Amino acid sequence: MNKNTEVKQFWDSQAAAHGETYLATMPDKFLKELEIDNISKYLKPGTHVADIGCGNGYSTFHYAETVDITIQGIDYSEAMIEQAHKAWNRLPDNLKARVSFRPGDVKGTGFDSSMFDTVITDRCLINLTTRNDQENALKELHRILKPNGYYVMCEDTEQGLHNLNQVREYVGLEPIKVRWHNLYIDETHILTVAQELFNLVEVVKFSSFYYLASRIINGKMAQEEGVEPKYDSDVNRVAALCSSKAVFGDFGPLKLFVFQKI
Ligand SMILES: C[S@@+](CC[C@H](N)C(=O)[O-])C[C@H]1O[C@@H](n2cnc3c(N)ncnc32)[C@H](O)[C@@H]1O
Repeated sequence: MNKNTEVKQFWDSQAAAHGETYLATMPDKFLKELEIDNISKYLKPGTHVADIGCGNGYSTFHYAETVDITIQGIDYSEAMIEQAHKAWNRLPDNLKARVSFRPGDVKGTGFDSSMFDTVITDRCLINLTTRNDQENALKELHRILKPNGYYVMCEDTEQGLHNLNQVREYVGLEPIKVRWHNLYIDETHILTVAQELFNLVEVVKFSSFYYLASRIINGKMAQEEGVEPKYDSDVNRVAALCSSKAVFGDFGPLKLFVFQKI
């Protein structure tokens, strides 16, 4: 079986195991909330948005509930889309009219060119198994955006993880390894490819403070107690609260890159 098929099977199994909950795509609920809050800031009322690699639609629903947008979610895992449809069925009619889902691949979305004001990926590109696929995905996302449209890329980077792991090393914690199904973005690579297609508007290192607190302080406390760190610890809860006010440093793998189509 090739790696792409294995990765897709992994996501199918996550959908089966965790259904409509945030756990299908992210074990850390505070980090999930931070992602949603930060991405939402770049959504403008009245715009048409694509959420590519939307999983079970957990975030997609939040975006449509908090901002008056129309949004189309696609994911290559039919099992994820099935969960999204289950949740969609319970929506009030006004939201149903603004939110839709279908299966689809970021490498070839099947959308017409220049369709969207904004395109989001949230930890989707990191599931592509080669740099070439990540590059082609970027070109596809550019194609489906209207001129001057925004690509909001929320992805983990090698550089962010490297910085975090340096701090972990200083304090005597094991490095966090990239999981088998992920290829974290190389910022130098993606920014080089992107410069032909987009203007880089902003880089928001929104998870830096959160990772320092949750993966260093909480990690160290757990080490002292001889237990596994818990995602729902009080340290993480307070770190998430502070993170909305304290965006500094470069110690989180997860970052937001805001691009505008040239
Ligand atoms: C980490 S989850 C994130 C899901 C969602 N964006 C969120 O934030 O909850 C990654 C998602 O990307 C999807 N995915 C991975 N590769 C994809 C591809 N080539 N095309 C479309 N979706 C893909 C997976 O099925 C999975 O649902």
